[in-house]
Amino acid sequence: MGNILFGGNKIFRLWKMENVILANGIGLPAVGFGSYKVSEGQDGTRVVKDALLAGYRLIDTAAMYKNEEQVGKAIKESVIPRNEILLTSKVANTDRGYDSTLRAFDESLRRLGTDYLDLYLIHWPADKAREKDWRNVNAETWRALERLLKEGRARAIGVSNFMKEHLVALSETADILPMVNQIEFHPGWMQREVYNWCVGYGIVIEGWSPLGRTRVLNDPLLIRIAERYSKSVAQICLRWAVQLGVIPLPKSVNPERMKSNIDIFDFTLSEEDMKLIESMPATGESGLSPDNITF
Ligand code: A2P
Repeated sequence: MGNILFGGNKIFRLWKMENVILANGIGLPAVGFGSYKVSEGQDGTRVVKDALLAGYRLIDTAAMYKNEEQVGKAIKESVIPRNEILLTSKVANTDRGYDSTLRAFDESLRRLGTDYLDLYLIHWPADKAREKDWRNVNAETWRALERLLKEGRARAIGVSNFMKEHLVALSETADILPMVNQIEFHPGWMQREVYNWCVGYGIVIEGWSPLGRTRVLNDPLLIRIAERYSKSVAQICLRWAVQLGVIPLPKSVNPERMKSNIDIFDFTLSEEDMKLIESMPATGESGLSPDNITF
């Protein structure tokens, strides 16, 4: 249990972060830890262990991040029981399709040293410009995820970076709608069209780069709001996402910033401030989008 391992009420409270309930009843913590790039130039195992110590229980990785072994090692070394950690991975773009997705899933499990995932996602939709058959490619990949769900090897399934058109096309062939769509999401880039569609169909949004890769941290409006609540701008961005029902996945290699990014459950942004942040001018995307991926 979080309180026995780490002591202190605060950590226990963080561990018990309000759950977000998916369409099939599985609960996810309200904030997760993004591990994209944690293996580049750092000890990924150390970073993920620090995140677990800080109180994160939703750990997000992907075959394409090339850090699944390090994430698996961190979970083992943390001595936190596997069933207290919610582990997500994603099928790489090069493994789309029914058989290859099933194989890729087994490979991810092997690298992570586990026999199930809590959440398995299609990392990117097939590219319309390069794949004439994109609808069918996504449908076949999704059929594999549905099988993994039915077999109980993935407790929940979803997609990532799917825009409305990809979701509409998928819904025409799917037996089960995605439970999650993980998209870039931060002030100035809330992707309203796909956000609204997902909310309407009960699909939970996870937000990657919830700090806009630090681009929004100097925004004057956010700084003013942060001062009023005596919080950091990062905490305002994350709290804003949580209040919109979005699960932000902040990443940091710094233990202090990891802790402050999860310490956002002792204040509430007013409706007025929520709206002010929503109406911020578009910042543009800070990462990639489905129309410009080249891998
Ligand atoms: P660092 O790892 O040194 O903390 P995003 O999650 O939007 O992609 O942003 C990740 C970036 O934001 C990383 O460069 C990370 O740097 C930085 N970062 C994470 N948390 C904070 C914070 N609380 N304050 C400032 N920068 C942060």
